[in-house]
Amino acid sequence: MSNASPVITIDGPSGSGKGTIASRLAKLLGFTLLDSGALYRVLGLAAERGGLAPGSDNEAIAALARTVEIGFGQPNVDSPWVEGSVWLGSDDVSLAIRTDEAGAMASQVAAIPAVRAALLQRQRDFLGENGLVADGRDMGTTVFPDAALKVFLTASVEARADRRYKQLIGKGIDAILPALLGELKERDARDTQRSASPMKPALDAIIIDSTVMSIEQVMAQITDLAREKLNR
Ligand code: C5P
Repeated sequence: MSNASPVITIDGPSGSGKGTIASRLAKLLGFTLLDSGALYRVLGLAAERGGLAPGSDNEAIAALARTVEIGFGQPNVDSPWVEGSVWLGSDDVSLAIRTDEAGAMASQVAAIPAVRAALLQRQRDFLGENGLVADGRDMGTTVFPDAALKVFLTASVEARADRRYKQLIGKGIDAILPALLGELKERDARDTQRSASPMKPALDAIIIDSTVMSIEQVMAQITDLAREKLNR
């Protein structure tokens, strides 16, 4: 990496709490946030809108990955967008990318090796003068192998499905727990078994199992680790 700004990577499966933790940590430390899953989600949405199907149009999807305009409203960086918002060109896709269908489409485009190659430098470009908190599946293994702190945050698939269920019900959205469990298992399998950058902890990652932890407990543990590694 050409730049000495510190990087913290938080990898793990869907529903492990890594998105919440990464965004709180970035805010706390004054770092930029890279939500790499959102990159794959926006790309999946752009492919779908362009009528491109994973499997038959892989080259065209990889070409789209190189050029598609993706914008993030950042917590600590001067940005024209509301914090946490995600943009496809001039279209606010913050909600559209969060559906379970968009997640499934993201994991299909993410399994295309040429797509991962196309997004590699785009992800590294998020590292500017501030430090970076990068959240995803392969941040510690492939994208930022020299990160100062690598966390792999996990939880049992049942606990993750239950969190998702409560989140949806809380928003007044109908949900069926066994169906959510099945979808999560399917996504886990696709993410861990693909040949290109499969989801796995980096050898030097600290593994945290959040199955019986609250988000506050996880946050406290990771904040302590970050302060220790960054001497802050
Ligand atoms: O983290 P999130 O659920 O938003 O990610 C959506 C999908 O994008 C994941 O299921 C995974 O297939 C893919 N992804 C990936 N590599 C990353 C981040 C996400 O393959 N670094």
